[in-house]
Amino acid sequence: MKIIMLGAPGAGKGTQAKKIAAKYQIPHISTGDIFRANIKNGTELGKKAKTYMDQGLLVPDELVCDLVVDRVQQADCEKGYILDGFPRTIPQAESLDKALAALGESVDYAVNVEVPDENIVKRMGGRRACVGCGATYHMEFAPTKKEGICDTCGAELILRDDDKPETVQKRLGVYHDQTQPLIEYYHKKGILRDVDGTMDMEEVFQAIVKILGA
Ligand code: AP5
Ligand code: MG
Repeated sequence: MKIIMLGAPGAGKGTQAKKIAAKYQIPHISTGDIFRANIKNGTELGKKAKTYMDQGLLVPDELVCDLVVDRVQQADCEKGYILDGFPRTIPQAESLDKALAALGESVDYAVNVEVPDENIVKRMGGRRACVGCGATYHMEFAPTKKEGICDTCGAELILRDDDKPETVQKRLGVYHDQTQPLIEYYHKKGILRDVDGTMDMEEVFQAIVKILGA
C-alpha cells in the first residue's frame, strides 16, 4: 500500500504516519525527518536545506525529488510505504507519479488531514521534539512522563527552530500557496480521502484505518 499524507504543518501527519507505518508494517518516509537528520550530521544536503527550513520556506524541488524517488525503490518499500511531507508541490507530485509509472506503479491513497489554521498555531507552540531520536511530543496533548525528557531515549526535548510563532505563520502561508493545490490534484485522480484532524489522535487514527481497510 502506497500512501501519501497531506495536511498543513502541524496537522498531525507525522503523528499518524508513525502509527500507520507500525500497523501496516511499511516504512514511514518523512522528508522533514530526513532533512533534520542531515542537519544534525552536518552533511552538504543538511546545510543547504537548513537555510530554507529556518525561514519556513520549502527546500527546492531538485533537492527533494531524487532523494524520495531513490528511497521508495529500496528493498524495504516493496510492500508499500507512507510518505509524510512529500509531495509538497505540484512538480514534486508529478515527479513521483512519473517515477512510479515507469515502474508500473501508482499511489493508492492521499490522506488529507484537515485542521484549521487557528488550531495549528496552538499545536506548534506546544510541540516538543527529542534532540536524540527525533520523537515528537506535545506539552498538553501528548506529554512525556518526565517533563522535558524523551520517554524513548532519555534525551532532552526542544522547541523546533521552525516552530516559533512567526515561522509557523510563514509555513502556513507557504502551505496554502504551494501545497494545498495538491488536494485538487489527488481529488482529480480519485484517491483523495479527507480526515478531520481536529479529533483526538486515536480518533484520527481510527478514521484513517477505516479508509485504508484493516
Ligand atoms: P516537516 O517536518 O514535514 O514539517 P511540516 O509539514 O511543517 O509538518 P510538521 O512536522 O510540523 O507537522 P505534522 O503534520 O507532522 O504534525 P505532528 O504530527 O508533528 O518539514 C519541515 C521543513 O522541511 C519544511 O518547512 C520544509 O522547509 C522542509 N521540507 C520537508 N519536506 C519538504 C518537501 N517535500 N519539499 C520541500 N521542503 C520540504 O503534530 C504536531 C503537534 O501536534 C505535535 O506536538 C503532536 O503531538 C500534536 N498533535 C498531533 N495530532 C494531534 C491531535 N489530533 N490533537 C492534538 N494534538 C495533536
Ligand atoms: Mg512532521
